Amino acid sequence: MIVDNMLFYGKMRLLAEKDIQTYQHSLRVGALCRRMALHLHLDKKQTLQLVQGGCLHDIGKVGIPDEILNKSSALTAKEWEFMRLHPSIGMQMMQEHVHTNKEIMEIIHFHHERWNGEGYPNGLKGEEIPIFARICAIIDTFDSMVSDRPYRKGLSFEAAEQELLLHSGKQFDSYLVDLFLKSFHSIGEEKPVADHFRRS
Ligand SMILES: [Fe+2]
Repeated sequence: MIVDNMLFYGKMRLLAEKDIQTYQHSLRVGALCRRMALHLHLDKKQTLQLVQGGCLHDIGKVGIPDEILNKSSALTAKEWEFMRLHPSIGMQMMQEHVHTNKEIMEIIHFHHERWNGEGYPNGLKGEEIPIFARICAIIDTFDSMVSDRPYRKGLSFEAAEQELLLHSGKQFDSYLVDLFLKSFHSIGEEKPVADHFRRS
């Protein structure tokens, strides 16, 4: 069983009501996860796990106070401490639902872990980090970099690609970074996603 439709759309609606920017970011992450799944020739079940996990990766942010989540200036150390709880909050939220798939839970819980062990919440290293969480970490960061924020304009696709390569093998699994970037340079039928990255 993956996440049933009622649960999935219910949680996504909760996220949209909490913070529309995080919701839109999560939808784009889900779309890019689908693109990656196509590129990797994942089967239907794995594709759904990766896409639903990508969409729900930040669901724990519904438990973060608005004044922290929507703060336009830099967070204080204490606020960061709170923000860094969102993967664990998300996992606890989904744990209440017995049907939530293990792979989806792992994406939610471990999408801020880093290849070199310097991530959170558990400081997992290398292949200790579940592979779908490693994929989500790359896509999450990539979409955040290319997206406009109230306080800054998003990077171009090329600049974001360079940033990913710079942190490849440190923050990210280098093998998966290569695969992710190849998925962009391949001809895809997912025009809306391609349009998202086309900047004038
Ligand atoms: Fe996150």
